[in-house]
Amino acid sequence: MSAVAPGPTPGCCCACRPGPWPRTPGDLRRQARSLLRLTPREEDVLHLVRRGASDSQIAVAALCTGERMVKSHVSVILTELGARDRAGAIVAATTPASRSPAVDRPCPAGIGRGTARAGSPRAPSPAVRSGGRRCEEVLGEDARVGQAVLHTARLRLLPLSDEHLEHEVELDSDPEVVRYLAGRPRSRREVEQLHRDRLAVADRVPGLGSWVGLADDEFVGWWALEPPTRPDQGPAVGQAELGYRLLRRHWRRGLASEGARELVRHGFEDLGLVRVFAETMAVNAASRATMTSVGLEYVRTFVLDVDEPLPDSEFGEVEYALMRDQWVAR
Ligand SMILES: CC(C)(COP(=O)(O)OP(=O)(O)OC[C@H]1O[C@@H](n2cnc3c(N)ncnc32)[C@H](O)[C@@H]1OP(=O)(O)O)[C@@H](O)C(=O)NCCC(=O)NCCS
Repeated sequence: MSAVAPGPTPGCCCACRPGPWPRTPGDLRRQARSLLRLTPREEDVLHLVRRGASDSQIAVAALCTGERMVKSHVSVILTELGARDRAGAIVAATTPASRSPAVDRPCPAGIGRGTARAGSPRAPSPAVRSGGRRCEEVLGEDARVGQAVLHTARLRLLPLSDEHLEHEVELDSDPEVVRYLAGRPRSRREVEQLHRDRLAVADRVPGLGSWVGLADDEFVGWWALEPPTRPDQGPAVGQAELGYRLLRRHWRRGLASEGARELVRHGFEDLGLVRVFAETMAVNAASRATMTSVGLEYVRTFVLDVDEPLPDSEFGEVEYALMRDQWVAR
């Protein structure tokens, strides 16, 4: 995290931290008024500036359409706060006088992950569990801007964090859900390792990662956009692999494709990907139909060299893909 960004004290929120005070009552009034003149979008940007985010990171967090727009928002914020630069804006926005809904409102984007990593003694707060997160609650000292919160007509897609581990355990304990993935229910230890791997992707590649989907605040499943990992999948830059896994009780409601469509849009429109691809066992009809449903086209059938092949793996794996140009032309 940037040296100028004040990080929250563990177990506390930024709003509790004493900051430098305005010099005169006039300063105080001006600062109190100024933040109230920020638009909601500018308030969101200010949140991220306070976290030490760069313009490109703020843009990736899907708050704005591009870096130029971010720069323009930052410039308005500096003017409103009477600050010369970002460091000045952070200081000004940290004073009690300027602490308004702009500073204490819920986290605008899925920035940062739950601070309670697996094995951490810190349990997520009720606000974190409910998804009504505040930046101050979810951003630790080492937090970084990453995945955006996404929405569809029925789904809220939140960046995966430790609070979702139990849902992953439930998913992977259903033999039908993991039939074409592991061939048998996964142990808790295995799920914990996969969970850590998914979080690591999000830490490694800005914007990419896994999202849990909530419909009416109920967990439905997860979706992912991950970078390629095998040489035969092509370049690691500009591409992402789409994945999804839903609880069985939510199958055949159009939810997998609804979430996948939004991830494809996010990948091309917000993250600048040039290609989204997906793979599954050739016999996984539901997954193939979902790929087709969101516009991916069949590319190839191939055989994976694995130690313990699953039943029906002799039919091979299939790859489907969609190029950005094709998606734009639709
Ligand atoms: C694959 C999976 C996510 C699909 O979820 P879903 O919510 O049922 O999918 P949707 O309702 O959005 O359906 C998407 C399309 O697939 C079709 N479809 C869904 N299940 C199907 C099945 N068993 N056979 C054939 N088509 C199927 C739907 O009719 C729909 O097609 P349409 O858009 O042309 O009408 C779900 O079955 C699952 O979680 N499976 C276990 C995990 C898994 O295999 N993940 C993929 C690993 S790569």
